[in-house]
Amino acid sequence: MKTTFFARVAIFGFFLAAILAGAAQAEIPDTFTNLEVFPKDIGKRHLMGAMRDFSTSLGVNCTFCHVQKTPGDFDSIDWANDSLEPKQVARGMMTMVRNINSELLPNATGQQGAKVKCITCHRGLEDPRTLDKVLLSSMEKDGVDVGISRYRELRDEYYGSGSYDFSPATLTTVAEILAQHRGDMDGAVKVLNLAVEMNPDDMATHLMRSQVMIIHGDKEGAVTSAREALRLDPSNEIAQKILKQIDQ
Ligand code: HEC
Ligand code: HEC
Repeated sequence: MKTTFFARVAIFGFFLAAILAGAAQAEIPDTFTNLEVFPKDIGKRHLMGAMRDFSTSLGVNCTFCHVQKTPGDFDSIDWANDSLEPKQVARGMMTMVRNINSELLPNATGQQGAKVKCITCHRGLEDPRTLDKVLLSSMEKDGVDVGISRYRELRDEYYGSGSYDFSPATLTTVAEILAQHRGDMDGAVKVLNLAVEMNPDDMATHLMRSQVMIIHGDKEGAVTSAREALRLDPSNEIAQKILKQIDQ
């Protein structure tokens, strides 16, 4: 399980401070030769603050963007080298953020002061897609079972970090899209079984499972889930109706 990315900011800051205070400091030059977006005369502290911010926002190390000639050797990093694609993408992202903050946000809100940062979108991830999108594209590509394994892996790694939304609505959204837009009832049932396992006290999860079970032709499953929904919310009218209809 990951620490929250806010905690990692502090942890990483500590290590970076140690690195900069130590022998490696000599390896990061005081002047910079290949800045296209930052001012060319930017101070070292300011630039290092920004680089630390990039790293924690994306949950990566410096070498995600900077070429390291000898693996594991910090001194062998060629900071000015542009050959890694993420570094080039990052420049575009810097310009995008600048445009959002200097023009688009003030125009949209009518006020100065609101700002987005890398972390606003990235949340400690290289790929900032939300969990429902990550799962749906994995399921589309490799099938529902692989998507479900992916959910379990991501939950083990990121639960509590704030990077992904593990609240019940994510899985019910995925199940709904499978059922309604992809016509995949088997897949929707599998996802709702996972959802019940993960969130046994979420009324909406049981209620949706009950409805999908009816369409899927599984009366017993529909009754079990409707009863669970009623246990959690005794006055729920949809669950009452489902039980009444099935009884007839
Ligand atoms: C997400 C990508 C990314 C990460 C991660 C990253 N950097 Fe950078 N770095 C850049 C980009 C982009 C530039 C160039 C900025 C510009 O063109 O104004 C840059 C420039 C630099 C430079 C100036 C090189 C020169 O001479 O022009 C140094 C030094 C540097 N980074 C150090 C670091 C350190 C130390 C870390 C880790 C704490 C780090 N970077 C993490 C993207 C990144
Ligand atoms: C408005 C939301 C948003 C903000 C703010 C944002 N990004 Fe991104 N970034 C994205 C999205 C979306 C993608 C994925 C694009 C794709 O699907 O390939 C991405 C992709 C990237 C990638 C490529 C990752 C990879 O795996 O190759 C890098 C590097 C990156 N962003 C760096 C940054 C940096 C540095 C900042 C802050 C200066 C930043 N981003 C701010 C939305 C954002």
